Amino acid sequence: MATYDLVVIGTGPGGYVCAVRAAQLGMKVAVVEKNATLGGTCLNVGCMPSKALLHASEMFEEAGHSFAKMGVSVSAPKLDLPSMMNFKQQGIDGNVKGVEFLMKKNKIDVISGKGKILGTGKVEVSGGDGKTQTVETKNIVIATGSDVARLKGVEIDEKRIVSSTGALALDKVPSKLLIVGAGVIGLELGSVWHRLGAQVTVVEFLDRILPGMDGEVAKQFQRILEKQGFAFRLGARVTGVDTSGKTLSAQIEPAAGGKPETLEADVVLVAIGRVPYTEGLGLKEAGVALDNRGRVQIDAHFATSVKGVYAIGDVVAGPMLAHKAEDEGVAVAEILAGQAGHVNYDVIPGVVYTTPEVSAVGKTEEELKQAGVVYTVGKFPFTANGRSKVNQTTEGFVKVLADAKTDRVLGVHIVGREAGEMIHEAAVLMEFGGSAEDLARTCHAHPTRSEAIKEAALAVGKRAIHM
Ligand code: NAI
Repeated sequence: MATYDLVVIGTGPGGYVCAVRAAQLGMKVAVVEKNATLGGTCLNVGCMPSKALLHASEMFEEAGHSFAKMGVSVSAPKLDLPSMMNFKQQGIDGNVKGVEFLMKKNKIDVISGKGKILGTGKVEVSGGDGKTQTVETKNIVIATGSDVARLKGVEIDEKRIVSSTGALALDKVPSKLLIVGAGVIGLELGSVWHRLGAQVTVVEFLDRILPGMDGEVAKQFQRILEKQGFAFRLGARVTGVDTSGKTLSAQIEPAAGGKPETLEADVVLVAIGRVPYTEGLGLKEAGVALDNRGRVQIDAHFATSVKGVYAIGDVVAGPMLAHKAEDEGVAVAEILAGQAGHVNYDVIPGVVYTTPEVSAVGKTEEELKQAGVVYTVGKFPFTANGRSKVNQTTEGFVKVLADAKTDRVLGVHIVGREAGEMIHEAAVLMEFGGSAEDLARTCHAHPTRSEAIKEAALAVGKRAIHM
């Protein structure tokens, strides 16, 4: 008899949510975690600490630059970086404790150590004390997440050449920060350190920032960041970093080839993506198949090539997002309980937590064009939104993309303050297959920034009121 119905390896948002849902459905569940704390990358060295620093650094920036015009007169704010890091740590600790509480509440056993799959129904756990134990279980879910993608010729030491982990824990503000990769991590952490005083240069291989996001949105967002003081070197790559001097010197080369040049920096942040983390899991020996990009291969029900072994989150295909992992965790738990667990990959919001924020759900214009879909665009700028005007936070716009024939909303894209909170009404609408007209006829409270979504939906039918 197996001891458990389910053993989940990894306690990030994918793993712990899966465990909770399985326990709710009556399963006897254990989680295996190799780190000292629960919560995985997101809680410990990812989403949560970065949001704490984004919040704190934004307050610093506002106190220095926006208070005076509102008649709030304060002397120039002083940065106390250790206290800011302490604020970050308190946030992490609070969330980690929350996950510990959820494990207890749902009677989920926490097994400390590194998990290795021995085959169907067997997980070996090696603890930090050198002891190993074999846990028997009916089902296994791999939720081991992802790790930083490395750049050839650039060795991360987490002090001067850092990944996101090191960039969340610098002990002083670098005067020059060079970021490799204009993706989500580069722009979020670049914002943190730029607000605190660093001169930020972002080197991006492609000729645009935020690949995968709507092109028009990315263009406008780049202009906003440039106005804030970001410098971008698009169509370029870093081929190496010389660490021998007091300052780092990075070699930059045009992506298309050409004359290299050198950029000086105190800190280099490598943010060129993440790779699935499967190290030491014993997948090869157990016969768990990977795809050509090293991700665990799964079928439509999250099942791997080995019976009773499932996988979710960053370690499988799809966007590497905590909320995508959570939804997959819930779905696989429900499937194991005999229910119809399901994730709608067409409606997964994405948010960049900068100021202003960028958010999106559904298709971009580029994707619709490529698929040959005939669509209508409705756009509305925050400069015409009353609430944004009175707050003097008018940067950005909302764009609604709807099917030209049926009016069904296919994508919504927002640049603007609170865009990350605003996107969800679009997500709900899209889950119900709603039209731009549905959105436009839904009464929105006045004055709110969300009215810009309603106006963009009205603009699909060329009848926005305030424009
Ligand atoms: P990313 O995939 O978002 O961006 C990486 C960028 O680096 C791309 O623009 C790519 O073209 C560029 N690049 C790749 N190789 C390069 C090279 N050699 N030289 C110059 N540029 C190069 O990856 P990022 O920002 O590292 O984030 C990793 C993952 O974490 C992503 O999947 C992201 O979605 C997730 N994440 C999500 C957040 C959110 O939802 N707010 C926050 C932080 C991370």
